[in-house]
Amino acid sequence: MVRDNYAKIIGFNQLGDERGHLVVLEGSVDIPFEIARVFYIYGSDTDVIRGQHANKKSEFVLINVNGKSKVKIDYGDSKEVINLNEPHMGVYIPSMVWKDMYDFSSDSVLLVLSNMKYDSEEYIRDYQEYLKLLKGEE
Ligand code: TYD
Repeated sequence: MVRDNYAKIIGFNQLGDERGHLVVLEGSVDIPFEIARVFYIYGSDTDVIRGQHANKKSEFVLINVNGKSKVKIDYGDSKEVINLNEPHMGVYIPSMVWKDMYDFSSDSVLLVLSNMKYDSEEYIRDYQEYLKLLKGEE
């Protein structure tokens, strides 16, 4: 697979005033897709590794709206680690990348937006299968 689509950090506008901060996320405006699904992860211990999968079709934007976590993104031939620690920054993750979320702070609330509704069939949970599928796309 000749990849032209990598993870991207997205900074969101903060519409704050003396009453506090406000961040607005509109599909296809602030988020690079129409939002079909929202879920959030909290209460994970610091030694827990979540994710550990790739998705054939789903794209995601991850935002730590409270606390901190890290996401390791593995493209098969290269890796990067992104620190999620600001409620006004997100990371866009394209399909067909392997991802691990870890190092959750005890107050971490990790908000995840996706372009697709949940379909367990499009999750790849075996790393060797992921590598094989990537090769097949070359
Ligand atoms: P899982 O994919 O293991 O979470 P993560 O990879 O983000 O750590 O999902 C945990 C459980 O929740 C699993 O039984 C599938 C279910 N689930 C849904 O039903 N819908 C969803 O959108 C997601 C993300 C998970």
